[in-house]
Amino acid sequence: METNTQNIPVIELRHIGKSYHIGEEKIDVLSDINLQIKKKEFVSIMGSSGAGKSTLMNILGCLDRPTVGSYLLDGDEVSTLNDNELAYTRNKKIGFIFQSFNLLPRLSAVDNVILPMIYGKIFKKERRERAEKILKSVGLGERMNHMPAELSGGQRQRVAIARALVNNPAIIMADEPTGNLDSGSTKEIMDIFTELSDIGKTIILVTHEDDVALYARRHIILSDGQISHDTEREER
Ligand SMILES: Nc1ncnc2c1ncn2[C@@H]1O[C@H](COP(=O)(O)OP(=O)(O)OP(=O)(O)O)[C@@H](O)[C@H]1O
Ligand SMILES: [Mg+2]
Repeated sequence: METNTQNIPVIELRHIGKSYHIGEEKIDVLSDINLQIKKKEFVSIMGSSGAGKSTLMNILGCLDRPTVGSYLLDGDEVSTLNDNELAYTRNKKIGFIFQSFNLLPRLSAVDNVILPMIYGKIFKKERRERAEKILKSVGLGERMNHMPAELSGGQRQRVAIARALVNNPAIIMADEPTGNLDSGSTKEIMDIFTELSDIGKTIILVTHEDDVALYARRHIILSDGQISHDTEREER
């Protein structure tokens, strides 16, 4: 019998908690997070500063591990992987985009995009071709050999998106990707996310801006380390 893979959650968190110890004191940053995200969903996460959004995104993005709980990614437990295994999983399945772009300043746009491919088994020539193609697709065909310092904020973020996409991950995660951008660049970046959603990528996006969250279909609000709201927009 054929199973409907559409409905299998690509991400499932069960009773996830994250705490830090500062001296004697234990600080619970996330507690009892339960969350399922299905393939192709477009989810926004909002919440006040300090609510735990970045902490949650770093766990989801395999950049960090929870203190307790289970994280199933494509059905595999990832909360107990070691650093190497976590990095491998991240590189294969997830494209992560940061507020501050995180480009390497001494590498050109195209070389920044090539970087995630050097761990894969792709020939040098093909790496460059793929990086160039994807930079063209985000409208940076004319800027490929520029250094990050020679690009605007919006252009830098498009390089970072190209870098996140170059290994063709099924899931795109972004922590305030438009936080450092003006409204024009914000729209350009969000139009790219819309296209990625339309071609079937799963997208999880943290934002402070209502207009940006509205691009998503499902809206999660985090308050004091817990999910306080989780609502889906009606199909128009
Ligand atoms: N390494 C750490 N050690 C101790 N506490 C930490 C650490 N990292 C984060 N925290 C605390 O966890 C809480 C949540 O931080 P987090 O960065 O996830 O918030 P956020 O919702 O992303 O906020 P913002 O909207 O300002 O980005 C904060 O109170 C922060 O001080
Ligand atoms: Mg944050």
